[in-house]
Amino acid sequence: MKTTVTKTLRSLVIVGAILGSSSLLASDGAVLYKKCSSCHGAVAEKQALGKSKVIAGWDATKVEDALKGYKAGTYGGAMKGLMKGQVASLSDDDIKALSEHIASLK
Ligand code: HEC
Repeated sequence: MKTTVTKTLRSLVIVGAILGSSSLLASDGAVLYKKCSSCHGAVAEKQALGKSKVIAGWDATKVEDALKGYKAGTYGGAMKGLMKGQVASLSDDDIKALSEHIASLK
């Protein structure tokens, strides 16, 4: 029983290490955006949870500033805590790739 737990923990650590090292690979904005689309819509056309601004049509710099602001706690409205959770684990490269992807959505 104990060994099973240890093994499970060990594989979690390995998976974590692999995920954590994803910054070694080029960040893929389209892949990263998948977890955002449930709230913001497939082409960023929705008001997330009926609360956010519609981010479709924003240029990359504007998205990047907002995402970095959420991460730093310097940007946002009543639900900024939620967005902070969304961006907390993203690297600068991830944020850049995501911003460029969002700006390219039509
Ligand atoms: C659980 C739903 C949810 C998910 C998932 C989500 N967001 Fe948001 N997002 C929101 C809400 C709600 C707001 C408005 C927060 C506030 O009050 O500032 C927001 C705001 C934003 C804004 C700024 C728009 C504004 O209103 O100023 C950007 C840019 C953004 N999100 C991008 C993303 C990206 C990129 C992801 C994926 C990494 C993501 N969001 C994932 C709900 C979500």
